[in-house]
Amino acid sequence: MLGPVILAASRSDKMRRLVSAAPGTKQVVARFIAGETVDDVVPIVSELSARGLEVTLDVVGEDITTVEQSYAARDAYLELIGRLKELGLGARAEMSVKLSMFGQSLENGHELALANVRPVVEAAAEIGTTVTLDAEDHTTLDSMFAIHEELRKSFPQTGCVIQAYLFRTEDDARRLAANGSRVRIVKGAYKEPASVAIQDKPEIDKAYVRIMKILMDGEGYPMIGSHDPRLISIGQELARRAGRKLDEYEFQMLYGIRSEEQNRLAAEGHRMRVYTAYGTDWYGYFMRRLAEKPANLLFFVRSILTK
Ligand code: FDA
Repeated sequence: MLGPVILAASRSDKMRRLVSAAPGTKQVVARFIAGETVDDVVPIVSELSARGLEVTLDVVGEDITTVEQSYAARDAYLELIGRLKELGLGARAEMSVKLSMFGQSLENGHELALANVRPVVEAAAEIGTTVTLDAEDHTTLDSMFAIHEELRKSFPQTGCVIQAYLFRTEDDARRLAANGSRVRIVKGAYKEPASVAIQDKPEIDKAYVRIMKILMDGEGYPMIGSHDPRLISIGQELARRAGRKLDEYEFQMLYGIRSEEQNRLAAEGHRMRVYTAYGTDWYGYFMRRLAEKPANLLFFVRSILTK
């Protein structure tokens, strides 16, 4: 019930100001966001890596309003990749990017986002890693998939994300599974209308299973992005039935969520990647985490009241 309200608030500037200024916010944000700067996040990459976990790094930010901000987003990723190179951490960490942060919704946004993301993909390839394009709201996806296809001509390892709640996704999964790309499947975190997305949670889970099966049976590299224990064990079973070895798919979870389960899967020999977000523009990312779990909202409200 509360999820859609929080997701609507995640797009409100007024709420952004209120939440950012509230006492106690910082403490709750720190559970999901690994810090504000490259210096904050690099030790976390080392620590996760020492626990046998892999990482995908997200410099938080989205829905920018100026071209200069899109250049700043590109430069933030280039700085991050430069630092990973210096420290020899390239092989353990890939990047996740939101194209809206690279200017996708501005004038000529498709071309701008492609021009901004290309040097990031090139720099990642130079240090032996890759980039995954996150999925945002449904209006952005045709452009995201077209950019993904364009980047894959030179960098076939470039990944993308598909969302189980969208009606279109089974078709997208078939297309992507057939051409051998890296695909992260998630349930979907945005407020989407009934005209494009399944609204019923159990039905979303069923679609997730159907899509996992398409990916596991296909020719690509499936990345199972979920904390849901049922879907994780079904994913393991589908991989086994498809005859995939442990390095022919991976699990992914968000930083700060179900860490014990992350350790358990890695200890079992699975490739387990932790999506680690950092940066100062954390509001949208943080609000989606609150929307996913009412207990997070309760914790947040309590921490404000006790300050
Ligand atoms: P579900 O929400 O049913 O949660 C299962 C269990 O996991 C819960 O019962 C709880 O124990 C735990 N849990 C889940 N979310 C939690 C939270 N916020 N706080 C505390 N516990 C929580 N979405 C999108 O639209 N585009 C994208 O590009 C991505 N990228 C992405 C990358 C990765 C690595 C992950 C794991 C997720 C995403 N998502 C995403 C978010 C995704 O769409 C979805 O909203 C969340 O993963 C929550 O769905 P679950 O599959 O975890 O199941």
